[in-house]
Order: sequence, then C-alpha cells, then structure tokens
Amino acid sequence: MSFSGKTVLITGASAGFGAATAKLFSESGAKLVLGDISAEGLGEGISGDFVTLVGDVRDPAYSKELVKLSIDTFGSLDIAINNAGIVHSFAKIPDLTEAESRKVIDVNLLGVFWALQAQLPVMEAQFAETGEGCAVVNLASVAGLGGASWLSIYGASKHGVVGLTRAAALEYARKGIRVNAICPSFAATAMAGEAVDDPEVESHMTRGVPMRRLATVNEVVQAILWAADPANSFTTGQNIAIDGGLGAL
Ligand SMILES: NC(=O)c1ccc[n+]([C@@H]2O[C@H](COP(=O)([O-])OP(=O)(O)OC[C@H]3O[C@@H](n4cnc5c(N)ncnc54)[C@H](O)[C@@H]3O)[C@@H](O)[C@H]2O)c1
Repeated sequence: MSFSGKTVLITGASAGFGAATAKLFSESGAKLVLGDISAEGLGEGISGDFVTLVGDVRDPAYSKELVKLSIDTFGSLDIAINNAGIVHSFAKIPDLTEAESRKVIDVNLLGVFWALQAQLPVMEAQFAETGEGCAVVNLASVAGLGGASWLSIYGASKHGVVGLTRAAALEYARKGIRVNAICPSFAATAMAGEAVDDPEVESHMTRGVPMRRLATVNEVVQAILWAADPANSFTTGQNIAIDGGLGAL
C-alpha cells in the first residue's frame, strides 16, 4: 500500500495501535497529524513529515484544532483514524461508578462524534474541489458487535461507534468519503493489561477466541491501513472484525 502524499490524522497516537499505525503510514509515504492526551511517545520513531498536538478528544474544540492543523500545515486532510479510547475495569453493571461510566462514553463515543463533526465537512469540501476521495477509520471493538459481560459501558460505547460509522458512511456515500470501523478482539497493547506478558492470563482472556490468543498490534494495524487504502474505493459503512474467528461462532 502506498499513501504517498496523503495527509493522515491519527488520535491516540502516543501508544498502542495509534503509534504503530502512525509508523506504518509514515513508512508508506504519508504526512501525519498526531494527537494524544499524553505527549509521551507522540511522534517517536517517525522519520517522515509530521506535526503533533496534545489534547483531549472529549473536547470538541480539540478535534477542530487537529483538522485545522492538518490544513494549515499540509493543505489537506485525506484520512482520519479516530483511535483514541479507554477501557474500564472488568466489573458488573451495578459496580461501575458514574464517573467511570461517563468518562468511557465521553472518550470512546462522543470523542469519535466530535472528530467526525470536525473532519467530514472539510473532507467533503476537499472532494468537491479535487475529486480525490477521503477515508475515515474508527476504532470500535468486537465489544461493539456483540455483548461483552463485565465490559458493559465499554461495549455500549463501541456499539455507538459502530452506529456512528454506519450513519456517517450513509450520509457521505456520494460525497467522496468512506467511513469504516475496525473491530478487534483483545490485542497486545497496554489495554489488554497483564495478558500481554502472562500466558496464563492471555489464555483465560482469549478462551472464547477460536485462535486462542491476543491479536498482535500489527494484525490490527494492517486492517486499519487496508480500510484507509484508496484502492478499497467501494468499501464503506463496514465494521470489520479482526477477531481470530470469534464472529464465526
Ligand atoms: N487493545 C485492545 O485489546 C483493543 C481491542 C479492541 C478495541 N480497541 C480499541 O483500539 C483503540 C486503541 O487502543 P489501544 O489498545 O491502542 O490502547 P492504548 O491504551 O495502548 O492507547 C490508547 C491511546 O489513546 C490515548 N488517549 C486516551 N484517552 C484519550 C483522550 N481522552 N484524548 C486523547 N487521547 C487519549 C492514550 O493516551 C493512548 O496513547 C481504542 O479505541 C480501543 O478501545 C483496543
């Protein structure tokens, strides 16, 4: 895949999928706008053109600033990867606190909504002017495709991202913007906690996954780039599971 000359905005780019996605896009020729609430690791290991902006996706103004930074710096916004997200501790519904529950919805669901509000009009205007299509890839989860016990409000936030992805794809199907979501099962980032280093925890956490393992970061990142690739010009509104066979059960 070549993303030569494309401008790619990535949220949650300091760690995990976001950082690895940034690296692969950069190696494929893209210019990057990288955002995260944490400055630590942001832009690390990227050799091509990039700019960074630290901020919180819960703030709608931050999403607008990231888009403006892309236009002001590189003159375009071709691809957006709405990846920033958090998970809550495993807990039954009555045991989740109000603060934790609201935060998960604010970051995971409203964060993607504010991002879409900022990105879509700019991409639409760009398509009208240049005829070049744009792509948005949201990070949902298999917890957005089916029920996830002990992860209720996280799963609800990701079901919301799946819904936003479908709605945005429909609204912009004839306006040059494809919108898809990637839905991983547990993968080897900080979010998977001890499962990354402890085979016993990994085995417990992935007992429902036919491949019986975590996804690697690269397995998820490859799917993100695939969904963003202009070659996939007829793929939109899809919520693509990267799940070791879970969805086949
Ligand atoms: N790792 C998994 O098992 C898994 C599975 C399914 C879906 N996902 C989703 O993939 C996405 C990336 O997760 P990851 O595993 O790379 O997690 P991660 O914790 O490794 O990285 C998430 C990044 O988002 C940033 N972030 C968190 N809150 C933010 C905020 N309010 N504003 C801006 N940035 C913020 C963090 O600082 C961090 O750099 C998330 O949306 C997550 O829900 C992860």
